[in-house]
Amino acid sequence: IKHLTSMELLSNDEVLGLIKRAQDFKYQRVTPEFKRQFFVANLFFENSTRTHKSFEVAEKKLGLDVIEFDASTSSVNKGETLYDTILTMSAIGVDICVIRHTDEHYYQELVDSRTIQSAIVNGGDGSGQHPSQSLLDLLTIYEEFGHFDGLKIMISGDITHSRVAKSNMQMLKRLGAEIYFTGPESWYSDEFDVYGHYVNLDDMIDKVDVVMLLRVQHERHDSGETFSKADYHAKYGLTHARYAQMGASAIIMHPAPVNRGVEIASDLVEAPKSRIVAQMTNGVFVRMAILEAILNGKA
Ligand code: CP
Repeated sequence: IKHLTSMELLSNDEVLGLIKRAQDFKYQRVTPEFKRQFFVANLFFENSTRTHKSFEVAEKKLGLDVIEFDASTSSVNKGETLYDTILTMSAIGVDICVIRHTDEHYYQELVDSRTIQSAIVNGGDGSGQHPSQSLLDLLTIYEEFGHFDGLKIMISGDITHSRVAKSNMQMLKRLGAEIYFTGPESWYSDEFDVYGHYVNLDDMIDKVDVVMLLRVQHERHDSGETFSKADYHAKYGLTHARYAQMGASAIIMHPAPVNRGVEIASDLVEAPKSRIVAQMTNGVFVRMAILEAILNGKA
């Protein structure tokens, strides 16, 4: 693959290939030999812990040279645009730029450029896409069930603002899963009806294989919006009562960071049915697979 910007651009075979390769990295501790030195820069213009740091671990495990980039001390603060920043990275020989940015589709002008040679890996674009998160979620589901076809997956919460939900609904539907949506109706849009059905959480909690919780994205809401944590938790959160109703083999996922006591009761984050910590671990191996797939095309 040349760039990784959106899950929609990956074929099912490419997705399954990346999942299998991530499993090689995870269980067989494979270390690829690259034919030349490669440079990677992680450019995060929006806050991140997991995506930023697990890309960094993945890059170091692959033996890549990681170029430090801190947006707050870069020439972005002198008014340099994202395009000119990446043009510079490309000119100095950076092979891959992993970028997180608030603007949806920020990556389009970069991948369309005839001058920029760096591959672009989207680490999240506003409320658009989060392909590496989606791939680590798919790896986590695949490890649990060994397939996607016919799995019932309920995506719950702030769907409108969630790039994780968008990447996952597109890919999981294509892989044969049945998607259900729940959460506040004001954070749902009819445009998602092509991927699944809006349901009542309590009607479906005992019937689904995966409860995929989403973070309430306060930073993307209107500042005047009123929000009660206790009310949200009672109406839409994974409470102990709902946990008790989940099927014996059902699992909980959440991309994190978690608002403990809001999307999920705090002590359920590390409960037996939770795969939230496994998702974070899987992020490293999936990101190794993404980087290797891109570099194999550049060697
Ligand atoms: N899941 C996720 O993208 O986490 P970060 O915002 O910490 O990278």
